[in-house]
Amino acid sequence: MTNRLMLIIAAVASGLVLGATTPVTLTLQADRPGAKIQPTMYGLFFEDINYAADGGLYAEMVKNRSFEFPDPLMGWEAFGGVAVQADGPFERCPHYVSLTDPGHSHKRTGLTNEGFFGVAFRQGEEYRFSVWARAPHGKSAITVELIDPATMGESQVMARAKVAIDSRDWKKYTVTLTPDATVAKGRLRVFLSSSRQADLEHLSLFPVNTWQGDENGLRADLAGLLADMHPGVLRFPGGCIVEGTDLATRYQWKNTVGPVENRPLNENRWHYTFPHRFFPDYYQSYGLGFYEFFRLAEQIGAEPLPVVSVGLACQYQNKDMSAHVPVDSLQPYIDDALDLIEFANGDTLTTWGALRASMGHPAPFGLKFIGVGNEQWGPEYVERLQPFVKAIRARYPDVKIVGSSGPSASGDKFDYLWPEMTRLGADLVDEHYYAPETFFLDGATRYDKYSRKGPHVFAGEYACHGKGKKYNHFNAALLEAAFMTGLERNADIVDMATYAPLFAHVEGWQWRPDMIWFDNLRSVPTASYFVQQLYATHRGDRVLPLTLDGSPLTGADGQYGLYATAAIQDNSYIIKVVNTSGEPRDITIDFRGLPRKMRLAPEYTLITLSSPEGPDADNVSTLLSEDSTGSLPVAPVTQTIPVENPASLTVTVPAQTFAVILRSTL
Ligand code: AHR
Repeated sequence: MTNRLMLIIAAVASGLVLGATTPVTLTLQADRPGAKIQPTMYGLFFEDINYAADGGLYAEMVKNRSFEFPDPLMGWEAFGGVAVQADGPFERCPHYVSLTDPGHSHKRTGLTNEGFFGVAFRQGEEYRFSVWARAPHGKSAITVELIDPATMGESQVMARAKVAIDSRDWKKYTVTLTPDATVAKGRLRVFLSSSRQADLEHLSLFPVNTWQGDENGLRADLAGLLADMHPGVLRFPGGCIVEGTDLATRYQWKNTVGPVENRPLNENRWHYTFPHRFFPDYYQSYGLGFYEFFRLAEQIGAEPLPVVSVGLACQYQNKDMSAHVPVDSLQPYIDDALDLIEFANGDTLTTWGALRASMGHPAPFGLKFIGVGNEQWGPEYVERLQPFVKAIRARYPDVKIVGSSGPSASGDKFDYLWPEMTRLGADLVDEHYYAPETFFLDGATRYDKYSRKGPHVFAGEYACHGKGKKYNHFNAALLEAAFMTGLERNADIVDMATYAPLFAHVEGWQWRPDMIWFDNLRSVPTASYFVQQLYATHRGDRVLPLTLDGSPLTGADGQYGLYATAAIQDNSYIIKVVNTSGEPRDITIDFRGLPRKMRLAPEYTLITLSSPEGPDADNVSTLLSEDSTGSLPVAPVTQTIPVENPASLTVTVPAQTFAVILRSTL
C-alpha cells in the first residue's frame, strides 16, 4: 500500500475528512437556559467490593492486623513461640500475639504477613510501621523487615528497623522503613530480637505518602483519581453490604468510628457471594469508616450521602420475614440514622458531634442527604421506611431522604415502589441498572417521561454490561456517555448519578465491570471513568436546548446515532455529542440568541474520547499484561479549534466518539 493511500485511510477512519458523510446541523438556543443542573449530578458510589477498601483505597498494607479474623492467624505465617491471646487492650478487638523465646533462639520467633495479594513497596519511599506492644518483663525488642521472599538477589531484606519495647503497659510504637528496592509481592516480617517476651497487637504498615498525608489514610493514587473526577456526591458505604447477608452482618456505622484499634471486624459478604470468585480472607476491618468517608467527601468536594440499614437484611437471601426487624422494634435502627446525622452535623456538645470532634473534625460535615435501605422492595420496605421518614423529618427537616426503587429499574417491584416513595414523601429515589447495550442505546429518553411532581431521581448504581466483555471495554463507556445525555437533559428531575461499582483489584475482583482498576502499585482509569470525568468536570449550571430539526438528540431514527446535550456555565457553553455510529459526522452547531456584547475566546476546546484500537479495547489490559507500555488505549484527547464564525461552529465528530466542545467567553 502506498503511503498516500494509507494516509487517506487513516484520515477517513479517524473522521478527519470534512464532508465525508451527510452533514448535520444542530441548533443551540443560548438565550433559553432551562433546568438547573445540580452540583451533585455526577458522583461516586463506594462499596467495599472487589477489595475496594481493605486492600484497596484504604492504604493499610497488613491483612488481619489485629488477629480478629475467625482464624486469628489468617494472613500470617507464624514461626517459633507465637501464641494468640484474647485479653488485649482493645475491648472490641481483644486478640493479640505473645512472642516468646522457645529456648533455642528468640530470633526464630515471629510472624510474616502476606498483605493483600502481597505487601508492595517502592524503592526510596517511606513506610510507617506501628504496633501496640508491651513487655511483660519490662523490656523486650522486635525487628521489623520488609522482605522479598522470591528474590534471586543477595538479600531478602529491603528494609529493616528495630523497635525497643520499654514498658510493661500497652503502648504504641512507630518506626519508619525505607526499602532499597521496589517489590510487588513482598512481605512484612516481625520477629523477636530479645530473649524476653513481647506482646504485639494491631501491627500496621502504611505508606507515609497517603492521600493528603493522613495517617490512617488512603492510597494517594486511588483517592487522587476520585478527586480528579470532580464528583458532586459520594454515596457510601454500599450496596448490599449495608443490608448484610443477615442482620448481624449489616453495616453498622457506629462500629466504624472512634480509634481504629477498637473497631470490630465484620465479614464482607463479597468474600463468598460468588462461588466462582471465592475470597476467604476478605473481611471489613472498618479502618476506612464513616469518619474517613466524610473526610474523603470533604476533601474531594463531594456531598456525602451515607446509606443506613432500614432493618431488612438482604431480601434475596432472606425470604422469611423472621430474618428482618419487626416494624415495632425498629427504634434502634432509627436511632442509628438520627445519631449519624448528629455525628455529621451536630455541634461539639452533642454526644456524636463530640466524637467527631475527638476524631479531629470539630466543624460539622454539613450532611444534606441520607439513604435509608439499599435495594429493598415490597410493602415490608415501605412500612419500615415510613417511621424513618417521620423521625428524620421531625428532627432534621432539611436533610433529604433517599428511598429505594428496588434492585432493577423496571418491573413489578419498581412499579410498586415509585408511587409509594411519592406517597411517603421521599426526596429522591435510588434507581439501579446494570444493563446491556440496548438499554443504554434506547435509554436517553428514559427520564423525559417521568412525572415532575414527585421525588427526584438518583441513578445510584448503573453500568453498561456489554455481553461477554467485562473489563470496561470502550463501547460500553461510549453507550454510557450516550445515555447520560438523557440524564443531563432531564436535570429538572435527575439530581444525581453514580456509576457502579467504583473499584476493583485485578487479583481480587468479584464483580465486573468497575470504574477504576488497580493492583498493589498501579491504578488505571477505565474508559467509563473518563466518561464520568468528562461529564463531571464539564457539568454546566443550566441545560440549554440543543436540537436537530426541532428535536433533542436521543439516537432516534434519522438522527445518525447521535446523542447530545448542551449547558451553560459561567457564560461558557458546553456541548456534549456522542456519535455511536460507525461513520464520522460533520456537525455544525448554530448558536442562536447569543448575547450581543459577548466577547468570545479565540478558540473552542474540543475534547474527544475514542478508541483507536476499536470498540473492544480496554485500559485494564495495561495492568494485566506483563509487557504493557503503560500507555492507555483509551484516554481523552484535547485540541483547540479557532473561532471563525461567532454564530456557528463546524466540527467533525469521528465514528464512535464522545466529544465535549467548550466555548468560553472572555
Ligand atoms: O454494585 C454491586 C451491587 O449491586 C451492590 O452492592 C448492590 O446494591 C447491587 O445489587
